[in-house]
Amino acid sequence: MNIHTVSTQPFDDQKPGTSGLRKSVTAFQTRHYLENFVQSIFDSLEGYAGSTLVVGGDGRYYNRVAIQVILKMAAANGFGRVLVGQGGILSTPAASCIIRKYQAFGGIILSASHNPGGPDGDFGIKYNIGNGGPAPEKVTEAIYARSQTIDQFKILEVADVDLDQLGAVQLGEMTVEVIDAVADYAELMQSLFDFDRIRAYLSSTAFRMSMDSMHAVTGPYAQVIFEQMLGAPAGTVVNGVPLEDFGGGHPDPNLVYAHDLVELLFGKDAPDFGAASDGDGDRNMILGQRFFVTPSDSLAVLAANATLVPGYKDGLAGIARSMPTSQAPDRVAAALGIDCYETPTGWKFFGNLLDAGKATLCGEESFGTGSNHVREKDGLWAVLFWLNVLAVRQESVEAIVTEHWKTYGRNYYSRHDYEEVASEPAHQLMDNLRSLVPTLKGKVYGTYEVDYGDDFSYTDPVDGSISKKQGIRIGFTDGSRIVFRLSGTGTKGATLRLYLESYEADPTKQGLDPQDALGDLIAIAHEMAQIKALTGRDQPTVIT
Ligand code: G1P
Ligand code: ZN
Repeated sequence: MNIHTVSTQPFDDQKPGTSGLRKSVTAFQTRHYLENFVQSIFDSLEGYAGSTLVVGGDGRYYNRVAIQVILKMAAANGFGRVLVGQGGILSTPAASCIIRKYQAFGGIILSASHNPGGPDGDFGIKYNIGNGGPAPEKVTEAIYARSQTIDQFKILEVADVDLDQLGAVQLGEMTVEVIDAVADYAELMQSLFDFDRIRAYLSSTAFRMSMDSMHAVTGPYAQVIFEQMLGAPAGTVVNGVPLEDFGGGHPDPNLVYAHDLVELLFGKDAPDFGAASDGDGDRNMILGQRFFVTPSDSLAVLAANATLVPGYKDGLAGIARSMPTSQAPDRVAAALGIDCYETPTGWKFFGNLLDAGKATLCGEESFGTGSNHVREKDGLWAVLFWLNVLAVRQESVEAIVTEHWKTYGRNYYSRHDYEEVASEPAHQLMDNLRSLVPTLKGKVYGTYEVDYGDDFSYTDPVDGSISKKQGIRIGFTDGSRIVFRLSGTGTKGATLRLYLESYEADPTKQGLDPQDALGDLIAIAHEMAQIKALTGRDQPTVIT
């Protein structure tokens, strides 16, 4: 065996963000940049000798190159076996499924999620632990600490593995198994949902759907599940071939970036149901005919209808949502008599709640929905859940959601993103708010009275760990909220996120455009944060 120990020098910017280390492709192409981070991961783990690692990515540019490096480094560092998706492909939820199913030690997922790809785009790497979920903060902090002092890495000198050929090959003393990227995940979906019922529904002439995979990782999964297993007509899945640059698009399933699907669903002769997923397959957007379902409402509706679906027929242990997500799921939880947990942004905070059996469904406003079936959010799972509910209720998406609002009230919701603003004033804005908001209690803005203002701090109910400074919250006495935070996934400058929410119980007032319903809160937020003065912007770059 030809194991090389290579001298290296630390990089000072390998701090994992909301979801792993995300940088431009060119940063990752810097000599030893990837190797340093991978070795820092391995150096932060204990007791993996001889065990199994899962490796795969969303197929973006540099995925195959990175996988070859990781395989050779895993072999040199003493892993016994690596399971890698065919072609280097594994969606994030499929990787989570495979880690759990084969009781792997952990997994490495190569993805920058919804960020654009290609030689000028972004790349990313994240480590998932044995429960299949993102590494918790204590692990990512250890990886970062190691990356700051690292002086060598180990790599096996050996020929590349053929990632397209299914089957096992030896890499030194380690076995590499190239596995079908779709099969295990599809089987898990089949165990949760009523495929017979969905198949019957999809084949009825009265129902038409379109699934936009945005030239990203879910194409092969969606084709197998919807078109082969569930018998949807060929062409149901569009943009189904994963491309290294996602066809030049921005693989983020929202109203702005999934515009082709939006046009179709809001156009003449629109299908009844539309869905899209992101670069690595963990996000989803749900559309009905001329109807958009906010991700927060989607979580609430799925929770309220969960017992219609075989995998959840016995009910839910609890619901968890990230802090900026609307409080619509809280209302369902209250009605069901179960807990609703409010966690910081990022899926890693759901892991403990799911492992401890405290939550069954989880969601984020950022088009992320999932459950205890894996430890990541799961785009196609959400689509299948909706299809199962539609197949049972035989009503339109719009009818189901408006009926939901009648029962629970409507949480008007919107997120305004100010992308790529200068970093220093963005941090200044947050610092200003941090000192301002605790003084606001009782202050009146128009019809709104401030109930509380804080910088969200979370104490994990399972392990007691505390995460501070997770976003500025301003709550009003009528339940409305304004939230500010800076993105932890961007790669250029800073991104300011402003989250707005108000509550309307009266069904006759539930039909407004959210931007109108939230107009006063938007103005209050601008006044409090001095967004224009500090960022130079008076309009967000993206509204979802
Ligand atoms: C964003 C979303 C967050 C999500 C993360 C990874 O993080 O806001 O909900 O978990 O992407 O998909 P942010 O850029 O806001 O830190
Ligand atoms: Zn993603």
